[in-house]
Amino acid sequence: MTDNNIIKMYTGDNVPLEMHKARVVQKLNLPDIDKRFEAITEAGNNTFLLNNRDVYLDMLTDSGVNAMSDRQQAAMMIADDSYAGSETFARLENKIKDIFNMDLFLPTHQGRASENIISRTMVKSGSVIPMNYHFTTTKAHIVENGGTVEEIYNDEALKINSTYPFKGNINLEKLQNLIDEHGANNIPFVRIEAGTNLIGGQPVSLSNMRQVRKICDKYGIKIVFDASLLQDNLYFNKCREEICKDMSIKEITHAISEISDIIYFSARKLGNARGGGICTDDQDLYYKMRELLPLYEGFLTYGGMSVREMEAITVGLEETMDLNMINQGPQFIAYMVEELKKKGIPVVTPPGGLGCHVDAMAFLDHVPQTKYPAGALAAAFYIASGIRGMERGTLSEQRDEDGNETISNMELLRLAMPRRVFTLSQVKYAVDRLSWLYDNRKLIGGLEFTEEPRVLRFFFGKLKADSNWQSKLVDKFKEDFGNSL
Ligand code: F0G
Repeated sequence: MTDNNIIKMYTGDNVPLEMHKARVVQKLNLPDIDKRFEAITEAGNNTFLLNNRDVYLDMLTDSGVNAMSDRQQAAMMIADDSYAGSETFARLENKIKDIFNMDLFLPTHQGRASENIISRTMVKSGSVIPMNYHFTTTKAHIVENGGTVEEIYNDEALKINSTYPFKGNINLEKLQNLIDEHGANNIPFVRIEAGTNLIGGQPVSLSNMRQVRKICDKYGIKIVFDASLLQDNLYFNKCREEICKDMSIKEITHAISEISDIIYFSARKLGNARGGGICTDDQDLYYKMRELLPLYEGFLTYGGMSVREMEAITVGLEETMDLNMINQGPQFIAYMVEELKKKGIPVVTPPGGLGCHVDAMAFLDHVPQTKYPAGALAAAFYIASGIRGMERGTLSEQRDEDGNETISNMELLRLAMPRRVFTLSQVKYAVDRLSWLYDNRKLIGGLEFTEEPRVLRFFFGKLKADSNWQSKLVDKFKEDFGNSL
């Protein structure tokens, strides 16, 4: 049985037991509703602009905020600070060889730094890069170097409600069509993203990756694998894919490496620390990428990372091979998704990794996309709970050259689940406040920009409510909850 820590309670409930205990904790504040209303107004209804001291549960992202283990913390104490040839680098390099079976490793300061180096080396004007789905920084680097991104997902990928276990799979027919249309010479690589972020942390199957490899081999096209969200993906390979059932997590990781020419990652996610890296066995590409490292990152044995973080990554990668470590995020997310589903709240299914994704388009079907329903829901949820989520919808898009809105495929409120950080009662609190909000959803209105930056507006932009709906929401909360926070 894969999930041996999901315990059947005497009451009949199934509960994912935490296979760790907290030994260092951080004090949290839960400001009252008046303070929350004030804080989100000051933040221009943009959860990126909230101060963390005003946030109860920070579900903005899992990036750099997963809990470290005692072993990771201990390893940080023995870091070797030498600028060149440090022992710390040797330990990380060896661990990379061990889990990815690749000999050549370039350290970088985070995921997008790896994307910069890979794109500068492999993408040129006219390049077409097929992928299961884009990530914001990935696309930006490819476009910056003159390339275009082609998303070749299956129809199931964008369906909010689905039972399809691997929504991150690549559609092979679309891949073949792209090769026929553009010619293999214009396709330097296919990018496969583990735990496809922007469609709800949805995994890609090992068998799909192997089929992609077969097609790429026919044409000499490389495969670049983004392993930032690999830990969730590995869990889903193990639990949902027949061919992986009897494989260890390390064997699945090796099988994925076998189909990849380059593996890169954000160690703010994979390895539960902060940093990044690029691995390969391709000497030619390695030497080309290596030239850029001292320019953009730092010397070859640290790449912009602190040696303490590198020690933590080494241990974090090793711990990622433990099913009882990597199952915690997906199990808590599945618990949250199932509880919300029971209450009729629209969420992305099947549950993925990274976080729970609420379908704001259905939740607020009376708010048009030009009034940013996912942004409005994020603001409303913060008011109702003190929990900070992230808008992933039209607000995260950029206007076209004529100033028209780019309407996004989905309007999601992402509630990230940093690993081993929250307790189940905190997850229950999130479910409870979201249920209250759902019953009062008609009170929620839209948002309008008051300050709109031209690029990456979701980071710094400020908005206001399009009516006094937020004070009505506060009044209703007080009516229902009295003095309770
Ligand atoms: N690739 C994926 C799949 C990611 O999710 C991220 C980051 C990156 C690359 C870039 O890595 O942040 O270290 O530069 N995702 C974060 C998030 C920002 O909140 O989902 P980075």
